[in-house]
Amino acid sequence: MTQTNVDISDIIAKWKPVKGSLVMMLHAIQGKCGYIPREKAMEVSEKTGIPLSKIYEVLTFYHFFKLTPPPQYQINVCTGTACYLKGAPEILAELNKLIGIKEGETTKDGKYAIAGLRCLGCCGLAPVISINGKIYGQVKASQVKGILEGLDKGEKPA
Ligand code: FES
Repeated sequence: MTQTNVDISDIIAKWKPVKGSLVMMLHAIQGKCGYIPREKAMEVSEKTGIPLSKIYEVLTFYHFFKLTPPPQYQINVCTGTACYLKGAPEILAELNKLIGIKEGETTKDGKYAIAGLRCLGCCGLAPVISINGKIYGQVKASQVKGILEGLDKGEKPA
């Protein structure tokens, strides 16, 4: 879920009385919203008295927390040694050609994001990509277009 209009008052009410529970509270909010919208951070600050600067200190310290909405499709391309040697650069180039972004970028409409990862732990399937957690093995650059079209046709990746 990636809604910003979700009610987080129950989460705040649950964790507010527990000393040192800011991380747990933010964790639960991200679980409900998909990320930590600024207005939710402000709501936490208002209702708990914790300064907004302290909340952002925590949010930026832990890489787990996301401050922007997650993309519709998170495409991870393994760039570990086996995948690199078997075609990861060509897959990245094809993705760049087809959706116009590079590794580490997100499309303006928030539909796709591409990240490079170091070894997804299934080197025997190299080269490997994952989309929203679903693994695609032995991917050829020529198959990337079909994979993306499958997503648009509602073939859910996860
Ligand atoms: S190097 Fe890609 S899965 Fe291991």
